[in-house]
Amino acid sequence: MTILVTGGAGFIGSNFVLDWLALSNETVVNVDKLTYAGNLQNLASLQGNAHHVFVQGDIGDGALLARLLAQHQPRAVLNFAAESHVDRSISGPGEFIQTNIVGTFGLLEAVRAYWGGLDAEPKKAFRFLHVSTDEVYGSLGQADPAFSETKRYEPNSPYSASKAASDHLVRAYHHTYGLPVLTTNCSNNYGPFHFPEKLIPLIIVNAQAGKPLPVYGDGQQIRDWLYVKDHCSAIRRVLEVGALGETYNVGGWNEKPNLDIVHTVCALLDELKPRADGKPYKAQITYVTDRPGHDRRYAIDASKIEKELGWKPAETFETGIRKTVLWYLDNPQWVANVQSGGYRDWVSQQYGDQA
Ligand code: NAD
Ligand code: TYD
Repeated sequence: MTILVTGGAGFIGSNFVLDWLALSNETVVNVDKLTYAGNLQNLASLQGNAHHVFVQGDIGDGALLARLLAQHQPRAVLNFAAESHVDRSISGPGEFIQTNIVGTFGLLEAVRAYWGGLDAEPKKAFRFLHVSTDEVYGSLGQADPAFSETKRYEPNSPYSASKAASDHLVRAYHHTYGLPVLTTNCSNNYGPFHFPEKLIPLIIVNAQAGKPLPVYGDGQQIRDWLYVKDHCSAIRRVLEVGALGETYNVGGWNEKPNLDIVHTVCALLDELKPRADGKPYKAQITYVTDRPGHDRRYAIDASKIEKELGWKPAETFETGIRKTVLWYLDNPQWVANVQSGGYRDWVSQQYGDQA
């Protein structure tokens, strides 16, 4: 048996592929364009593992996807590939439209053709799982209930609007063509291999480099944080037992204001790797201009996946954030390669012309 994963060299995708192959021998075909966010060093431990087939490619490349689907006959396709950083979507939305909307459309077309040609049994068993975000639901007021699956979509950034559009396409392919789809809408993830443009890894990396810790606006925006491996376990659960056409919100009931997150990371670093001058890392906090259109609060109501699929996160925020900070402290070479851009040479160094 085989699954095909897109975006498996990114933050969540690489964690998913690593966990999948640690838990099973089912082959993963991993299609990733290797944008700035794709890093094959995340998957270095899979070198020589015949159950990991990496292919550099674009989800919008219909001919490539058709060939890979025909060749590998996957029982499922999981779509992680996306442009994912809100700030980049504000300074340059084009790539977000291209990959998240047009790319997802191309992928859906290729999958629809493949699925349509399957024999009855594999056709019935096939799944297309689309990995999405809570940001499609928009911003909550302080007193609003957490996002449930029935919350109206109100995306506010080019990123969340492009993800919302992709969710709608996935929904439409189920409704119109009967494609057996599943969608997950997860809250903010954190953990190993998180690119240090996002809040938590940026704070860990900048703190140690003696750089400012940029906090947007008043730092009181709220996000709902989930350890990445818990997101991966939720995706596995939805893939195996999720009801066709359904969406599942994924979260860990961990709402925190950004400033609390920054303080927590600083306190862990004070404990684990104190500054040479004995001062606390929080002294490096710098308030900077707020993000335009910055969503104030996200919160996930995860009751559906908990009750219907029996999923629960394994980590609390306290255990997950400690693991995360320790991972960054233990992997300075990964950080250095990301910062120098050296990770981008990894493909040619390690894979020659095989990838
Ligand atoms: P990421 O930016 O770290 O990784 C994205 C990966 O997709 C990269 O490896 C990149 O090379 C690849 N990619 C980009 N465009 C591509 C294309 N056209 N074709 C093939 N590959 C392409 O993102 P992430 O944080 O790992 O997020 C993965 C998915 O999970 C995204 O769909 C994102 O919307 C969703 N999500 C992320 C979070 C979060 O907190 N990071 C939360 C909920 C949902
Ligand atoms: P981010 O990690 O970019 O995720 P998202 O925007 O998808 O939620 O940002 C998390 C929160 O942290 C968000 O409210 C913006 C804020 N933030 C900062 O305050 N400073 C920063 O340097 C960054 C990158 C984000």
